[in-house]
Amino acid sequence: MIDIHSHLLPGIDDGVQTEEEAKTMLSLYKSAGITHIVCTPHLANPFVKTNILKIRDSYTWFKTVAGSYGIEAILGSELYIGPEESKFIPFLGKFLLVETSMRVEPLFLLDRIFKLQLEGFIIILAHVERFSWLSVTSPTALRLREMGVYFQVNIQGVENGGADQYFKENWVDFIATDNHGIARRTPVNLEVFYEYPEIMAKTKTIFNL
Ligand SMILES: [Fe+2]
Repeated sequence: MIDIHSHLLPGIDDGVQTEEEAKTMLSLYKSAGITHIVCTPHLANPFVKTNILKIRDSYTWFKTVAGSYGIEAILGSELYIGPEESKFIPFLGKFLLVETSMRVEPLFLLDRIFKLQLEGFIIILAHVERFSWLSVTSPTALRLREMGVYFQVNIQGVENGGADQYFKENWVDFIATDNHGIARRTPVNLEVFYEYPEIMAKTKTIFNL
């Protein structure tokens, strides 16, 4: 099983801060039988300070340690789609996790996503249930689906019911943790992955795992 959205690189963004905490997380993933973790530090998020220059080093450390837990770490990013274009790290060559404003629908969102698609990237919209302006009845959601944008929901959104409407529509492509560590957020219940075998199967097919 793969977790495609996490903030586990120590000291890089608002996620895990220490190597110790990262190791604690890895042991939880190991116990839960998760085999792959995509590290997706925030990029271009106006509300989060990301230590971009340290990403590669931190990932090198994390990848080695994850390997000792029998877990494959993959580097990606969570790109905040804002008015300006910015750099990003796709994972597995072509998958790009994106987020945007939680409160206001950005007018440029569809254009920006379409442009990234033309460049060959497969777009995954992170934690769809957290955008207050987005719902299954909004024209933008329908448009995104027509464009082939994948929808990811957070485990937290599965547990609090926020993701329900997307499940009902069969619009959930991925469940992920958006794990920011244990220090400042409630621990993520990794067992939730196994409650949705059909989504797990879909995920494995998409990534050929
Ligand atoms: Fe995130």
